[in-house]
Amino acid sequence: MNSYQVQIRRSSPGHSYVRSYHVTSAERMTVLDALFRIQAEQDSSLAFRCACRVGMCGTCAMSINRVPRLACKTRISALDSPVVTLAPLPNFPVIHDLVVSLEPFFEQWKRIRPALRGSPSDTLAIILPDPDISRKRDCITCGICYAACGVKASHADYLGPAAINRAFLRVHDPRDSARQQRLKILNDEWSGVWRCHTQFNCTALCPKKIDLTETIGRFKRTLLVS
Ligand code: SF4
Ligand code: FES
Repeated sequence: MNSYQVQIRRSSPGHSYVRSYHVTSAERMTVLDALFRIQAEQDSSLAFRCACRVGMCGTCAMSINRVPRLACKTRISALDSPVVTLAPLPNFPVIHDLVVSLEPFFEQWKRIRPALRGSPSDTLAIILPDPDISRKRDCITCGICYAACGVKASHADYLGPAAINRAFLRVHDPRDSARQQRLKILNDEWSGVWRCHTQFNCTALCPKKIDLTETIGRFKRTLLVS
């Protein structure tokens, strides 16, 4: 058993401060386990969000030792530090303590028309398996890429990696009939793919290992020749 100091940025409207807690952790304890223990034994007012607890729903994303990660998939022992700092995800408005509003993320998501817009047809579309594209379907809308993006921090209008990845799936679906509308949005000089400075933060931190920088690069090449 190891002892950790967990420093949590607490916030409520108009008020923000850091509070420290002590947690004794077994080897396999995750940051989310530690939060539940703190809430049960030391401070029932602590607010955080989670649902699945196994890395599938994306709701427990937060800044852990200054890096956006999933709390349920981050073992405290793997952080290799006696001090663990927890804060809400950057680039999002804070609702309370570690809970942020994902509204700005989904506003950008909506802009690229995330739903399939198929055209009526009597024949079934044949979609062959493509491992390159399959991995890009695994997004759990956790917001980590959005929080990690250095461009997003200074350009609120930028679509962000996850929305661009979603557009990629739609544009590469042979049933899609809104390709040109999506490409026009992606080609916007101010908020589209050209805003990406290829910093790779999104790709490095995506918990589903989606190569978002590659997705954005592919769109840039498509737009250059179209
Ligand atoms: S692309 Fe990855 S980091 Fe971004 S929202 Fe989806 S799962 Fe999270
Ligand atoms: S609680 Fe669902 S991803 Fe962490």
